[in-house]
Amino acid sequence: MQQQLIDNFERKFEYLRLSITDECNFKCNYCLPDGYHRTHSKSFLSSQEIYNLVVAFAELGTKKVRITGGEPSLRKDFTQIIATVASIPGIQKVATTTNGFQLEKKVQHWFEAGLSAINISVDSLDANTFHLITGKNVFQKVMQGVSACIDAGYKQVKVNCVLMKGVNDNDLALFLQWIKTEKIQLRFIELMQTEDNQPFFKKHHLSAQWIKKRLLEHGWQQKKPLSHDGPAQVFQHSAYKGEIGLIMPYSKDFCKSCNRLRISSTGRLHLCLFGEEGIDLRDLLQNSKDKLALKKRILDALQDKKSTHYLQQGKTGGTQHLASIGG
Ligand code: 5AD
Ligand code: SF4
Repeated sequence: MQQQLIDNFERKFEYLRLSITDECNFKCNYCLPDGYHRTHSKSFLSSQEIYNLVVAFAELGTKKVRITGGEPSLRKDFTQIIATVASIPGIQKVATTTNGFQLEKKVQHWFEAGLSAINISVDSLDANTFHLITGKNVFQKVMQGVSACIDAGYKQVKVNCVLMKGVNDNDLALFLQWIKTEKIQLRFIELMQTEDNQPFFKKHHLSAQWIKKRLLEHGWQQKKPLSHDGPAQVFQHSAYKGEIGLIMPYSKDFCKSCNRLRISSTGRLHLCLFGEEGIDLRDLLQNSKDKLALKKRILDALQDKKSTHYLQQGKTGGTQHLASIGG
């Protein structure tokens, strides 16, 4: 029987989040408020290393790969990486998460290379607030990118919005208006605490619980979770083309449906977004002959996966910011 990635809590991992760079050209106030500064001298995973890595994961049952950053599209070989990952037997879905900066220009190429799903960060529908949050005055450009995705034929376009008290919590009505006619899954993500953003977190963290309450009061219905949904709670309404997803990492049982593992841009396996420094896989990515040893290291590491993060207790596990590991 094929070996599978199942942990001690019966969770199955068919979804890999692969960071290919920690660099970003935005300065989101909750992530990289002072912009990106390189803090290491290691090179990012090469196309060949990525190939060897994903082949091993695919043989362990991985079906979906999300390519993340930093901002993944800053890599010149991004389209080639999409094609490489999409070509690997067993990989059924290749997704990415992007800040949308290059979207309008590139999204058709990415589609043709085999990208099947895309998440775009849009933290406000007000151009000034968007500029304030991201440090970039490119709201229109990103929105044109979102439209280009819909036109390019992606079955699934998701938009991520990090909820922040006093920053974008008045935007809900605008967001709802938007998805009346657009077939988008809009995902509200609760702000997470990292090493770097603690005072910001204290000031701006907002539970998505109030959105859930409001949606339910206004005729939205929660969809039955599908096994590959992961921790998002998804809502739909007959008068809206789009859907709403809520990602509430501070809610009870959030980690029970964890279905993902992460690889950093320098080749470390992270069992959780928070809580550990990762297991270095890089020495086993150089030669396809090391595939068996690589699979063994991954399987052994998974036995140490904890049942939950300890975010509620204020532990960030040393994660400086999410650009370092791809959100
Ligand atoms: N809390 C919540 N979401 C975050 N992201 C980045 N940093 C944080 C944080 N501290 C989100 C981005 C993007 C996704 C990759 O992660 O907005 O949508
Ligand atoms: Fe860049 Fe994403 Fe961090 Fe914003 S949240 S600074 S787009 S990595």
